[in-house]
Amino acid sequence: MAATIIDGKAFAEGLRAKVGEHVATLKAKAGVVPGLAVVLVGEDPASQVYVRNKGRQTVEAGMQSFEHRLDADTGEAELLALIARLNADPAVHGILVQLPLPGHIDAEGVINAIAPEKDVDGFHISNVGRLATGQKSMVPCTPLGCLLMLRAHLGSLQGAEAVVVGRSNIVGKPMAQLLLGDSATVTIAHSRTRDLPQVCRRADILVAAVGRPRMIEGGWIKPGATVIDVGINRVPTPEKGEGKHRLVGDVDFEAAVEVAGAITPVPGGVGPMTIACLLANTVTAACRANGLPEPEGLTA
Ligand code: GUN
Repeated sequence: MAATIIDGKAFAEGLRAKVGEHVATLKAKAGVVPGLAVVLVGEDPASQVYVRNKGRQTVEAGMQSFEHRLDADTGEAELLALIARLNADPAVHGILVQLPLPGHIDAEGVINAIAPEKDVDGFHISNVGRLATGQKSMVPCTPLGCLLMLRAHLGSLQGAEAVVVGRSNIVGKPMAQLLLGDSATVTIAHSRTRDLPQVCRRADILVAAVGRPRMIEGGWIKPGATVIDVGINRVPTPEKGEGKHRLVGDVDFEAAVEVAGAITPVPGGVGPMTIACLLANTVTAACRANGLPEPEGLTA
């Protein structure tokens, strides 16, 4: 029987609606308008698209959007000075510096210059440590989106065998921490894991975040497993014409859908949840900054 398709687009719409309601309540009851500042250095086309979408969705949710576009040759000192201004600005509750940054800038130094309570990406070393030690933190958006979809689909994750394929700081490692926080039994695997297919076959929950197109085969999936595909890979489709491409995940979807119990598609799975979670994190940050109760269901 073919798997249930977990519709990330619909899920993200629901989350954005929830965010919008909280924003309206914050405005009406406390006079607080959550504000998100996005900083883009340079002209990377993919980053420009992301930043535009973030700004649009921020405004649609009723929040304030502050966009800062800097030239590719902007010096690190100038970028750090901007971050210091945003850290001190009470109208800004969330700060996101779009990655990748140009090579002459120390990205880690820049991220760690963001006030941790405004770090809506959850990349600051203090938020990484807080997440790892079970303290209240800002949680990285993509793994948060995966967690919210898993909870909605499965209810409790307690005791489930979870395998995360991928060990990046942005997805794999925080995803493992979140699954552990929900009492799953967690394995972090990666492209060099010995007998990766066998490790994957153990998983009740399989999260693929390895960045290799269709690497996870149907035969690697435990029948009935819940599969979350974080990969977004462009592959050429010469049969559709020169220069054409399509997006595929890290999982061979056509094969996996015949084995899994539930699966996220690419596109339309995890992708739409990332910006929705960024908006959710901004609302969470605005509530914390004003000593207001945090809305349920928006964070881990
Ligand atoms: N570039 C690609 N994804 C992300 C993200 O989640 N956050 C930031 N800051 N930059 C990115």
